[in-house]
Amino acid sequence: MNLIDTLNWRYAAKRMTSEKVSDEKVIEILEAINLTATSAGMQPFRVLSISNQEIKQKLQEASFNPQVSESSHLLVFASYTHVSQAQIDDYMSLVAKTRNIPVESLNDFKEKLSGFLSMPEDFVRTWAAKQAYIALGTAIVAAANLKVDSTPMEGFDNAAFDEILGLKEKGLQSAVILALGYRNEEIDPYAKVKKVRLPLDELTITLN
Ligand SMILES: Cc1cc2nc3c(=O)[nH]c(=O)nc-3n(C[C@H](O)[C@H](O)[C@H](O)COP(=O)(O)O)c2cc1C
Repeated sequence: MNLIDTLNWRYAAKRMTSEKVSDEKVIEILEAINLTATSAGMQPFRVLSISNQEIKQKLQEASFNPQVSESSHLLVFASYTHVSQAQIDDYMSLVAKTRNIPVESLNDFKEKLSGFLSMPEDFVRTWAAKQAYIALGTAIVAAANLKVDSTPMEGFDNAAFDEILGLKEKGLQSAVILALGYRNEEIDPYAKVKKVRLPLDELTITLN
């Protein structure tokens, strides 16, 4: 299947069966998330991969979307609530180690990133959440590529999720979630309906 056929195949599954997605496929989706482009390459989010049914059941109480507990794995994209000097230093060390260069050669880059330390908290939270959403898009495409269904969801109680998952203590907050699993065609009316999209020439503004 080419990419467009794959994207036509995918839809936001409203109901899922209890069939498990293999570890191999979940790892590939997580690897794709890890390869997502992010602002300054900072990756200011973490991804919780939850297959534990008890935890999913608890989270289900904080969401009207049945996919939370029907999923095989629930991915919670949790973004930074702030950027610290230690995080910037860790990132610089990672760049230096990965590229085998002296960490001092990154001083200008480090200086630029230090701007985050004095940014208003709201700005940092919004910026970090935006990066998590880019990763969400990558995950949706990666899942479809493996013929795994997925549902992106904002319909959940963020504060309750943060509390249940202990995200605040980790300097994180839930941004968006993605259910991974397999569509339940028997009870999901959306499984067979046509995709609704704008004509391409209405979506696109071409300036030649
Ligand atoms: C950020 C985001 C949040 C969404 N939240 C929900 C949600 O809470 N529940 C749900 O069933 N679908 C949710 N959706 C799925 C959209 O409704 C769906 O992607 C859209 O209607 C387009 O349909 P399709 O993805 O099936 O092609 C969300 C999608 C995105 C991208």
